[in-house]
Amino acid sequence: STTPVKVAVTGAAGQIGYSLLFRIASGALFGPDTPVQLRLLEITPALKALEGVVMELDDCAFTTLDSVEIGDDANTIFDGANLALLVGARPRTKGMERGDLLEANGAIFTAQGKALNEVAADDIRIGVTGNPANTNALIAMSNAPDIPKERFSALTRLDHNRALSQLAAKTGSKVADITKMTIWGNHSATQYPDVFHAEIGGRNAAEVVDDRDWIENDFIPTVAKRGAAIIEARGASSAASAASATIDAARDWLHGTPEGDWASMAVVSDGSYGVPEGLIYSYPVTTSNGDWEIVQGLEIDEFSRGKMDATAAELVEERDAVKELGLI
Ligand code: NAI
Repeated sequence: STTPVKVAVTGAAGQIGYSLLFRIASGALFGPDTPVQLRLLEITPALKALEGVVMELDDCAFTTLDSVEIGDDANTIFDGANLALLVGARPRTKGMERGDLLEANGAIFTAQGKALNEVAADDIRIGVTGNPANTNALIAMSNAPDIPKERFSALTRLDHNRALSQLAAKTGSKVADITKMTIWGNHSATQYPDVFHAEIGGRNAAEVVDDRDWIENDFIPTVAKRGAAIIEARGASSAASAASATIDAARDWLHGTPEGDWASMAVVSDGSYGVPEGLIYSYPVTTSNGDWEIVQGLEIDEFSRGKMDATAAELVEERDAVKELGLI
């Protein structure tokens, strides 16, 4: 289609933005024939740096980039947006308690939820990357009563991709041969990367691995703690991979998961798999035309049940904390 798509990105002058914007502008999300209008939101002190990023976007001469608008007012930037990628968030700084972090981000996602509710396009889809992603998505969703709850999701695709890569390395297979990977729960250290339903070349992945100790004591913690390992190695948190996962998640959401496969996406729970209703919990989902459906009927053994419940319990705690702060 030649109708331009309006994509809003928050935290656009940040690390992830520096990778994400160029991918979107070059057509990675909507293909070579759909013009993209970027709407970039930042806090006032970062607007100058953002102007520099826009200069570089100009200098790429992307044929798919129709226009770029930047600003610090959410109601202006989100106006008519079809897709909003909420990347900007308050990082935890030294001495900051978890409550302080939830409060600082609560203020951001309350305001952005309200603004989206007021001015976004009717077909808006909202993906939250900024941490704590699940709870930030919950806050935005709760503050946007006119937007269907299914339009909000939080990013666990990076965890999903990390799991694919670890499993491919362990089994000497290609990531392209692996399907039906699942990340359950919170984008945090309690997440549960599940290989028991995954397949490698159509065979059950856990059977191919045939190493229970590796799954429990190597694979799961490696995926769950990969963010910290990147910080340790790079001296900065994962950015290009987070941007890439943000693209993968939005692309699959809007254009559909491949036949015979699914994706991990944190979406509002309808109680599936015994997860408390209303939590933003990562599930295996299939998507088509911008709608997702939770994959049903997977058999959950006792080990998986315990992991799925533990990450749900953490999300309930986060929800209680933001409720107490009056944010939802
Ligand atoms: P960064 O600190 O480099 O950039 C964040 C940007 O957000 C900054 O430019 C800041 O000015 C901006 N910002 C802050 N408040 C804002 C507001 N109210 N409106 C608009 N912009 C605002 O951080 P980075 O590395 O780009 O990461 C962004 C977020 O993504 C962090 O919360 C990080 O923890 C999270 N993340 C999530 C991952 C996931 O898998 N879900 C993976 C990696 C990072």
